[in-house]
Amino acid sequence: MAEQGDPPHQKKKLYIETVGCQMNLLDSELVVARLRQDGYELTDDIQQADAILYNTCSVRQHAEDKVYSALGRIKRLKEKKPEVAIGVLGCMAQKDQDQILRRAPHVDIVVGPGQLGRVPELLARAKGDDPTRLAVSRARTDGSLETITASFETYDANREPAMRPTPFQAFIRVMMGCDKFCTYCIVPSVRGPEQSRPPVAILAEARLLADQGVKEITLLGQTVNSYRYRAPDGRIWRLSDILAKIHEIEGIERIKFITNFPNDMTDDLLQAVRDLPRVSRYLHVPAQSGCDEILKRMKRMYSVAAYEEMLARTRETIPGVAVSSDFIVGFCGETQESYEKTVRLVERSRFKNSFIFKYSAREGTRADRLYPDDVPELEKKRRNNELLAIQTAISLEDNREWIGRTVEVLVEGPSRTSVRREGWDGIDQLTGRTSCDRIAVFDGSERLVGRMVRVAIEDASAVTLFGRVETTEVVATPA
Ligand code: 5AD
Ligand code: SF4
Repeated sequence: MAEQGDPPHQKKKLYIETVGCQMNLLDSELVVARLRQDGYELTDDIQQADAILYNTCSVRQHAEDKVYSALGRIKRLKEKKPEVAIGVLGCMAQKDQDQILRRAPHVDIVVGPGQLGRVPELLARAKGDDPTRLAVSRARTDGSLETITASFETYDANREPAMRPTPFQAFIRVMMGCDKFCTYCIVPSVRGPEQSRPPVAILAEARLLADQGVKEITLLGQTVNSYRYRAPDGRIWRLSDILAKIHEIEGIERIKFITNFPNDMTDDLLQAVRDLPRVSRYLHVPAQSGCDEILKRMKRMYSVAAYEEMLARTRETIPGVAVSSDFIVGFCGETQESYEKTVRLVERSRFKNSFIFKYSAREGTRADRLYPDDVPELEKKRRNNELLAIQTAISLEDNREWIGRTVEVLVEGPSRTSVRREGWDGIDQLTGRTSCDRIAVFDGSERLVGRMVRVAIEDASAVTLFGRVETTEVVATPA
């Protein structure tokens, strides 16, 4: 609904930037969908915007710094155009709360990830004399579990196709929050207690997305494989049950889920991935470190041996599965010897890829309270680069094994490097992913976007398979 006093039929313009994980991308989609109902439309031009929103991340300092510098850059814009509403949403809003308003007084609203449903109301009020500027959830120590949980609202009502990675790929939240409290991690305090959404809500959303033409669904949760829901009839739903149900929905050709916690990788889940052909044979299971003492300090609740047992069981159950991991280097107390244990785990595990991060101390976490951040920045950087080089060499070796094989690829769109040739003949360079989440690049007509094609692999780099479309025949029938 347009606000009173706005010229009729004139759309307000919304500029939004999203930092961080897929959960944030989904949150931004939901906020935009809701604001469209209030007469906003998206713009890429920040100068034209009536509202500027940053959906933020707090996992590492670097992500926060980026937002503060973006806020610094738009200070002048706000001076020239005071009516523009500026909002900081997401994890940083929950973590820093009114500190953001002090540090960047030109910000109008600060809204935590558990309060995103209030964005429209706060934006509308931002123009008033005494606006409420802050909407955050309760701290994890601030009341009973019920009141804290209730302050992190579910907010998955509206969907906005324009905000998706592509028109046929979408996210669904299956869990919110996290209760693992790894000592380095800010997520449990900014995203609140772990909650599994009811299966009926998840399945209704999956059906709606399929009706809208979505072919690939990615289920999201901080520890998605810990999903557990007791239905009113007493039945316990696990992630494997959700996968089986979504698998039945016509039009859904690929299902993924991220991110997994090693201890919750149960056999029923592994068997579901093995037995349901449309479930991607790809598992992201962060190990974080290859040293038992460090894992203990991180409170990851498994040993290196237990992680490797899980990995062996996964590979035995699901032939051809690709596994990827996250690692933090330079965590408090990580000696050269403990780091080398991580190197050896990476060498043994042959992950498809690993995301490697330098430890970043986060205020409010247990590690920050208990342990000195004692690995020098340069050493963190050295370990990061070295571990990445080791992983890259493994990825290259394993990707080269694919040369000469044919893979099924869901075509996502033109490849980023593709340049329209002069006298364009309808052939372009396309990109997509295999069932085990490998990126494939090949020549093909734009008409193939959103379809499943067979690609014969002819070359490979550490991150990409290069090939030729074997047949343009659609392998799985689109809806
Ligand atoms: N410093 C560096 N990396 C971190 N991660 C989480 N918290 C921190 C931190 N304080 C990494 C973990 C996690 C990924 C999403 O981010 O590896 O799996
Ligand atoms: Fe953070 Fe650990 Fe929860 Fe992952 S499992 S979100 S690393 S606390």
